Amino acid sequence: MEYRDRSPCGHLTLSDVGKEVTLAGWVDALRDHGGLLFIHLRDRSGIVQVVFTPELTPQTVCTKAGLLKNEFCVLVAGRVAKRVEGTENPSIATGQIEVVAKDLTVLSRAETLPFQISEKSMVDGAALKREEAVAEDLRLQYRYLDLRRPKMQDHLIKRHRIIKVIRDYLDAQGFIEIETPMLTKSTPEGARDYLVPSRHYPKNFYALPQSPQLFKQLLMVGGMERYFQIARCFRDEDLRPNRQPEFTQLDLEASFIDEEFVYTLLEEVTVRMFQIGGIQLPRPFPRMTWTDAMNSTGSDKPDIRFGMTFKDVTDIFTKTNYSIFKQILNRGGCIKGINVKGQSERLSKNILQNEYAKEIVPGFGAKGMTWMRVVDGGLDSNIVQFFSDYERQEMIKRFEATDGDVILMIADPSWSLVCSALGQLRLHVAQRLDLIPVDSFQPLWVTHFPLFEATENGVTSSHHPFTMPDRADFDPENIDALLSLHSRAYDLVMNGEELGGGSIRINDRDIQNRIFKALGLSEDEIEAKFGFFLKALEYGAPPHGGIALGIDRVVAMILGTSSIREVIAFPKNRSAFCPLTEAPSPVSLEQLAELGLLELGGLLTLPNSKEEQDLIDSLSWVSRISVNIEERAVISAAIEDAKTCADLISNRYAEDEPMFSVATAVNRTRPGTESRINPLSEKGELLKNAPSTKGGYFKVANILE
Ligand code: AMO
Repeated sequence: MEYRDRSPCGHLTLSDVGKEVTLAGWVDALRDHGGLLFIHLRDRSGIVQVVFTPELTPQTVCTKAGLLKNEFCVLVAGRVAKRVEGTENPSIATGQIEVVAKDLTVLSRAETLPFQISEKSMVDGAALKREEAVAEDLRLQYRYLDLRRPKMQDHLIKRHRIIKVIRDYLDAQGFIEIETPMLTKSTPEGARDYLVPSRHYPKNFYALPQSPQLFKQLLMVGGMERYFQIARCFRDEDLRPNRQPEFTQLDLEASFIDEEFVYTLLEEVTVRMFQIGGIQLPRPFPRMTWTDAMNSTGSDKPDIRFGMTFKDVTDIFTKTNYSIFKQILNRGGCIKGINVKGQSERLSKNILQNEYAKEIVPGFGAKGMTWMRVVDGGLDSNIVQFFSDYERQEMIKRFEATDGDVILMIADPSWSLVCSALGQLRLHVAQRLDLIPVDSFQPLWVTHFPLFEATENGVTSSHHPFTMPDRADFDPENIDALLSLHSRAYDLVMNGEELGGGSIRINDRDIQNRIFKALGLSEDEIEAKFGFFLKALEYGAPPHGGIALGIDRVVAMILGTSSIREVIAFPKNRSAFCPLTEAPSPVSLEQLAELGLLELGGLLTLPNSKEEQDLIDSLSWVSRISVNIEERAVISAAIEDAKTCADLISNRYAEDEPMFSVATAVNRTRPGTESRINPLSEKGELLKNAPSTKGGYFKVANILE
């Protein structure tokens, strides 16, 4: 039996009947029918049934087969046969045939498995354990076994195909794949950095890239014109199902382009990626400004698979007598609402009042929620009595309300709070009532973002600081003016999830410098963090722009998995831990010392280290006093004297009673022996020469505490 003759298990069909084949793979499942043994043999291509029968299989082979267990790795030779009518298994692709074994080699045995790997029953229709029954950490601990499951293999194969489509398409468009450094300087993408200490520069650190942002821009300055990379990025941020500390982007950048170039290019790439999963995306991808997105869905990543978009009814209530609305509008607020069409029967008064108004909506940050149903062509709720006829009629018109509808409204002095709370309510209701169509994929470009967001003491970039503003004439110290700027940034959103984001970049040193100033950086900080980058902008930087797509998110969406961990071969768990390798893990003190990090960790001496063996070095380190060669000799002699003295004392007094104690103490080394209080301590004599004392004790220098 030779490996090179091997046939893929999953490719055998009726046309192979009668052929002699060699198969290699894992025992997926086995069934013993008293002397007649069936196994499901699985390799990456699929599963085929192998039968060991005393009539056609040599006795020695049958005996060996009797010892097989799940996940043994085996080599089988045999002849393909049509299955006996009635024994076909439609749940596997090769279910019409089986291989009658002639020979068997056990290549590698397997221990008892921590969880079931098999996904196909040997008998059509028999129930199998579902993967959800296995704790995710156990799957991750034994990821190499988890990866044997056909479903996981399919995920990784599709991921490979999706990435290949990207490479092929971008290559055809003149994009060059270029790697950028992993050991680099921090790039501001809004998360914390993963730092890598440097041995050559103790107490100095590289940062792992949060994205290749600065390098791809430098590639444009370097005249590469069209760059892309399947780039690994690292961000130390709070984890969610769609976030990993280490993830992959399709990162690209091009020179002499505008937004339209990016929209067209990304539409082509995205459509091709989704086709790998058999999904046809609607084209062209619609666009929405950030302001419209917030005003109509309360989200900068609107889910447009379903309606329920906001209606602004502020104008209807400008003269209202309803005191709550009146107060809010007097404070410059707004009122927005959604119409949950025809759902009045599923949203009882109890649900609306006690769940939504009292519990759920306050959890979204709003003080309350106003609700009403549409009954007999009019509005019905405990507050509509406070509305005028005009207000009621206009509401019906504005919401295009008909009987059976439920109108939910939020009013607040803050526009952004109304948008955000109503946006969350819109999603909550849609999910609860199953109003979001499954298997629907709705891409959307969100454009014209504000350049900055307000913080407690200034502004921060909505995307990152390299994004071109819509105007160049801004004063970096005027916060209001800064907050009115828009950016030339765009996000690609699908089904309410951000798949990617990018922008046209600043290629002018002065604008870039003023952006850094607007962010509150001093000239010195700008120089230290971005001096190298600003310098590059002084040498004919071309106009350029680009985008990055989250590959893990795209693949997870195409494959419909519940988290991006399902499409990553070796992900971290929900706590950013790797149960397989147990990373992150402590390192040896030697490694820390080598990197100059020991003192940072609060440790002063290193067990079994050179510092400990060399007493003078150790003393010098602990006391933070440098010792020159002459002093070494003096100290060395003093240490020797002290050691001799100590030896003398311990020899002479070895048999003596335990030492005296300053305070009342229990003698723990010799139970039963009372310790005595030194009479000198009672008179205060003992501490007479101490430089300073506290509560009957010597005070020592901090360093020794
Ligand atoms: P941004 O920070 O928006 O842009 O990231 C781009 C895309 O990367 C994905 N992503 C993540 N995926 C998984 N886990 C994470 N922790 C994570 N963080 C981000 C998202 C996101 O849309 N340099 C800019 C791009 C540019 O301007 O060209 C950048 O990185 O899908």
